[in-house]
Amino acid sequence: MAIIFHEDSGEFHIYNKEVSYIIKILDNKQLGNLYYGKKVHDKKSFDYLLEGKLRPLAAYVFEENYSFSLQYIKQEYPSYGTTDFRYGAIEIKQENGSKITNFEYKSHKIFKGKKQLEGLPSTYVEADREAESLEIILYDSLIDIELILSYTVYDDLPVITRNAKVINKSKNSIVINKAMSACVDLPDCNFEMVHLAGAWSRERYIKCKRLDQGIQGIYSMTGTSSSEHNPFIALKRQNTDEFNGEVYGFSLIYSGNHLEQVEVDNHDMTRVLIGIHPDTFEWKLHQGEAFQTPEVVMVYSDGGINKMSQAYHKLYRTRLVRGKWRDRVRPVVINNWEATGMEFNEEKILSIARTGKQLGMELFVLDDGWFGNRDNDKAGLGDWYVTNYNKLPEGIIGLANKIEAMGMKFGLWFEPEMVNKDSDLYRAHPDWILATPGRRKSHCRNQYVLDFSRNEVLEYIFNLMEKVLGEAKISYVKWDMNRYITECYSIAKNADAQGKVFHQYVLGVYNLYERLISKFPDILFESCSSGGARFDPGMLYYAPQTWTSDDSDAIERLKIQYGTSLVYPIISMGAHVSAVPNQQVGRITPIETRANVAYFGAFGYELDLNNLSDNEKKKVRKQVEYYKAHRQLIMNGRFYRISSPFKGNITSWIVVSEDKREAIAAYYKVLNDTNKGYKRFRLKGLDINKKYIINDNENEVYYGDELMNVGIVIDEENFCAKGVDFSSMIYYLKEFSEK
Ligand code: GLA
Repeated sequence: MAIIFHEDSGEFHIYNKEVSYIIKILDNKQLGNLYYGKKVHDKKSFDYLLEGKLRPLAAYVFEENYSFSLQYIKQEYPSYGTTDFRYGAIEIKQENGSKITNFEYKSHKIFKGKKQLEGLPSTYVEADREAESLEIILYDSLIDIELILSYTVYDDLPVITRNAKVINKSKNSIVINKAMSACVDLPDCNFEMVHLAGAWSRERYIKCKRLDQGIQGIYSMTGTSSSEHNPFIALKRQNTDEFNGEVYGFSLIYSGNHLEQVEVDNHDMTRVLIGIHPDTFEWKLHQGEAFQTPEVVMVYSDGGINKMSQAYHKLYRTRLVRGKWRDRVRPVVINNWEATGMEFNEEKILSIARTGKQLGMELFVLDDGWFGNRDNDKAGLGDWYVTNYNKLPEGIIGLANKIEAMGMKFGLWFEPEMVNKDSDLYRAHPDWILATPGRRKSHCRNQYVLDFSRNEVLEYIFNLMEKVLGEAKISYVKWDMNRYITECYSIAKNADAQGKVFHQYVLGVYNLYERLISKFPDILFESCSSGGARFDPGMLYYAPQTWTSDDSDAIERLKIQYGTSLVYPIISMGAHVSAVPNQQVGRITPIETRANVAYFGAFGYELDLNNLSDNEKKKVRKQVEYYKAHRQLIMNGRFYRISSPFKGNITSWIVVSEDKREAIAAYYKVLNDTNKGYKRFRLKGLDINKKYIINDNENEVYYGDELMNVGIVIDEENFCAKGVDFSSMIYYLKEFSEK
C-alpha cells in the first residue's frame, strides 16, 4: 500500500495490491481524476489520460485554449457552471448571491493510519500500518473557503474511503447547498447499477439496471437511511456475476437522508455522486466553522460481487463495529414481540423466559409495552419508566433480577427518538417535537419525532435511559425507530438554520448512542427501525447488529438476508425463528428451515415457546446447541452467496472459516417438485487440497476441489422435511484428519 505524490506531474497515486486511484492537479489547479480500478504500476505521469479536444458548443477555461474544458475532464470534486454543465459535488451560495466556486490545490498531507471523523461514524484502524491517508487542501481565494478532500487506502482490502470538509476562513457567512461525500468520474458507461430497494417487511431486494444517458439513482428523504433505498450502489460490468468480473461498490456511512446519483453524459462518461441528499439540506457556515461530510467506502473488485461483499464484510465487522461486542459471539436471544405484542404481564414473560432457559437460550428481550401507559400504540412513548405495576409488579429492576436469577441475561426495547401525545413527556413538552409552525403535524403509528437536534431533548432522554440501564441488570438494548420524519422543522432554531435540522437530528442520534455505549460498554445494542429501515453502516458503528426485517418468515428472509449480505456482514443481521403460520405472510414452514435461515445471522427466537409441542421443543434445544457450537464460525467466517433467491427456486450459500478447516453450507428449496433429476450443490471457498467430512460422517471423505467442482449430490431424502414445500438442508463441513 502506498500513496505517492509525483511532484513534476502533480499526480497522486493511491494504491495497494488490488486497486489504483490516480488524481492529478489540473492546469486550472483543480483536481482531476485519471484512473480508478485494478492496480497498475506506478509511473511518474499518466497525463495521457487527460481528455482535451475541441468540441463545438464546449466552453473552455482559458482564453486561446480550445482543449481544456471541465465538461470532458474527469474530476474529483466538481462544481457546476464553469464549463461543466453536469451535477456537481458541491454548491456554495455566497454573500453576493453567486454559486460559482473555484477550489484550487494548495497543499497536501500524506500520513500513516487514518483519522476519525468528528461526531460522525467512520471506519478506523487499530495500528497505523493498516492504512495510509491523503488529505488534499484546496482553497477558493475569492471567498476564503478551504475544502479538504480526504482519502484512505487500506493495506489488505480493496478499499478506499473518502470524505470532504468545508472550512469557512472568511468573515462572511456562506450557505452550503450541497456537499457530497465523493464524486467519481469513470471513463465509460458500460455498467449496470446494482442497488438495494424495498419497503417495510421486504427490505434490501437486489435490483439491477443498465446505465443509460441521463440521471439514474436512488435516495432517501425520509430522515433515515430507509427501507426504500439502502445507502449503497454498485456499478458492475454486464458480464460480472458473483465470482467474476469488475464491480465498483459505494457505501455511505450515514443514517439520514442520502443520495446516490449516477449520471451518464452524452460522451458516455459516468459520474457517481454519493452523500447527504442536497434537497433536504442547507447549511449556513459562519466564520471559523467547518462542515464535515459523512464517509463513503469504495470497494473495487475484479472477482465479482462476492469479492466486493467480502471486503465490506471484513471492513465493517472489524473496523467499523466497535466495542466489546465486536469480537464476542452473540447470545441466543428469545424476544417476546411476536409472542405477546404489548399484552403481557410478569408471569407471562417469566414463563417464556423459563422455557427459553430450559431450551438453552441465553438472553430474554422484553420488547415494546413495558413503559408508561403503553398498552397499545397510542400512548407511552417518551416515558421510559414503569408506571403500570399490574403488568410488572416489581418494575424492570424486579423482572431483570428474576430473569438473571434463572441464569439468563435480560434485554430491553426502547424507542428513544419518539413520543406519543398521550405521554407525560408530551404533556410537559409539546414543543419538543419536529413540527412546522402553523402546519398539520402528520403522525405515523400515532407517534411524533422528538427534536434530536436540540441538546435539552437529548439530555432528557439520556437521563431517562441512563437511569433504567443503570438501575436494572440490563445486558442488551433494542433501539427502535418506527417512523419517518415529516414537517421537519425545529422551533428552537432561526429561519436560516432550518436546513440543518435533518442532519443535526442524525448527529443527535449518534451523540446519544455514543454517550450510552460509552457509559454502558458491556451492553449489546441492536438497532432497529420498523425492522430494517435503518440498516446502514452508520448504525453499525454504534450497534453491532440490526433487526433485519419485521418479516420473520424464513422464505421471505432468504431474499432479505441475501440482499443485505451484499454489503453487511451476516453477524450484523438479527435473525429469529418465529411461529407458524407466520404473522406477516401466513406461511407454514418446517421449524428446521426457519432455523436453517436464521442461523446465518445473530440468532434467536421470537414466539411463545410454551406453545411448542414437546417434539418441537426437542428440535429447538438441538438448534440452540447447533448455533452455539458454530457461532464463532458464523460470525468470523467468509460468506459466499451461491444461488440467488431472486433468480430461482433454490437459494444456497456457505460460510467458511478463515483457515478453511470448517464451513457451514445451506441449501434451501422453496417449492417442492416431483420426479426431478439429481442436483449438485457446488460449494465455494474451500481449500482444494484439504479433505472434508460432512455432518460428522467419517465414512465419506471429500476433497475441497471435489466439493467445489463436482459438488455435493443433493439427496432430497436428507432434507429437513420430505415431500413438502420450503424444505432445506444444512451441511457442516470439517477438515478430516486421519487418525
Ligand atoms: C418495530 C420492530 C419490531 C417490534 C415493534 C414494537 O416494528 O421492528 O421488532 O419491536 O416495533 O412496537
